[in-house]
Amino acid sequence: MQGESIFDTVITGGTVVTASDTFNADIGISGGQITGLGLGLTGRDTIDATGKLVLPGGIEAHCHIAQESATGGMTSDDYRSGSISAAFGGNSCFVPFAAQHRGMGVTETLDLYDSRAEGSSVIDYGYHLIVADPTEKVLTEELPAAFARGVTSFKVFMTYDLMRVDDRQFLDILTVAKTHGALTMVHAENNGMISWISDRLLAAGHSAPRYHAPSHPALAEAEAINRAISLAKLVDAALLIVHVSTPEGAGLVSEARMAGAKIFGETCAQYLFLTREDLDRPGMEGAKFMCSPPLRDVPTQDALWRHLQAGTFSVFSSDHAPYRFDETGKLANGPDATFKQIANGMPGIGLRLPLLFSEGVGKGRITLQQFAALSSSNAARLYGLDQKGSIAIGMDADIAIWDPEETRTVTAEDQHDNMDYTPFEGWQVTGWPVTVLTRGQRVIDGGKLQVEPGHGRYVARSRIDLTGYPGHRAPELDPATNFGAEIAP
Ligand code: URP
Ligand code: ZN
Ligand code: ZN
Repeated sequence: MQGESIFDTVITGGTVVTASDTFNADIGISGGQITGLGLGLTGRDTIDATGKLVLPGGIEAHCHIAQESATGGMTSDDYRSGSISAAFGGNSCFVPFAAQHRGMGVTETLDLYDSRAEGSSVIDYGYHLIVADPTEKVLTEELPAAFARGVTSFKVFMTYDLMRVDDRQFLDILTVAKTHGALTMVHAENNGMISWISDRLLAAGHSAPRYHAPSHPALAEAEAINRAISLAKLVDAALLIVHVSTPEGAGLVSEARMAGAKIFGETCAQYLFLTREDLDRPGMEGAKFMCSPPLRDVPTQDALWRHLQAGTFSVFSSDHAPYRFDETGKLANGPDATFKQIANGMPGIGLRLPLLFSEGVGKGRITLQQFAALSSSNAARLYGLDQKGSIAIGMDADIAIWDPEETRTVTAEDQHDNMDYTPFEGWQVTGWPVTVLTRGQRVIDGGKLQVEPGHGRYVARSRIDLTGYPGHRAPELDPATNFGAEIAP
């Protein structure tokens, strides 16, 4: 309480919600940080939040922005449009991917993404580094250098021919990440199963978008998650399984966490709200719903909700991977492209939080505290965004003010992204982020963007905090039980 201070900005009259508490307080902001919490605060600028919920600004931690896909197509959103759409959807910070492709260096990759992001984003940002070419130089020099510049999470793919790493390369990356305190993230699907089924489907003339679903069996996810967890356990490294889409996969994450391994899980909006039936829309419409892993079914949705409620998933993301429904995106290989020739991914960066609020909080599936954790706080802690993800003295004033009563019908036009469709067209949501601040400055207010591109700053992130995770010591790597061989860090 700093009742005598005059703050730059005060947010008055709102109900403050954090991952642990709900309380009535004014929030004082000075120099871009939260510097006061109390009643009767005064500031040079006042935001009246009476009747509203005041939450930590959302952190979108899985999105593809200004990124070439595995097959070369560029996402339709750049750092300007992607960040604006994220901000309208209640986010004050996001962490897209910087993708190393084979033949590229890591430093070169990060420099490239700096040039794509600088001066463009309206909210703060960092990058996860996709590692597709783990050469000796990358492992010994460039990954440590990436970590030193605040890129503290590395993602690998177990599928996609041009991106995937093999198990040995995966182990190398996990080991470097462990040494530096970085978190490895993995897209876990069995490549051989997918290509084997795909080839047979195509040979039998089944090329429509709906066949994307059977070409990615649930077993391909379960096998790869099991293998990824085993690799991480072998070297006792931290690993996040991204976009888990099956009960089997979620069960493996849960079991590993219960056993104390340093394993984390993420699921995404589309797996809770859409099904494979959406892939069976007329003509090529199903292409709009193609993502990997694919959409599943209603029993899967129910199981994923239960895992979200039980804490299996630390992060809930959009996996925004926007490709327009035209020749620049989904139809780049023509109007009759096979499911193998259509870019994977769908948009959703502006709807992740309204959907979770409406379907989660509004329908009594999760508490407001869980919403704060899943929308912001968990991602901040997991990804080393030390100044973000909570409402407390000294934190960045990254705040989203929600009107819990506002009801909207979703349309593509309202998304502020550079897309020509939304998979959630016509959905009705109750609860809407009406004001979003990044470092104390209104980014969104009154239904309008309030800052220029470039307001968002790059955020260097910290190492992962693994306190409370006992981990797993493989006896074969333990000198006490392997005849004294020191072979792993
Ligand atoms: O289909 C998806 N999810 N596309 C984006 C890339 C990825 O695998 O995350
Ligand atoms: Zn992926
Ligand atoms: Zn993704």
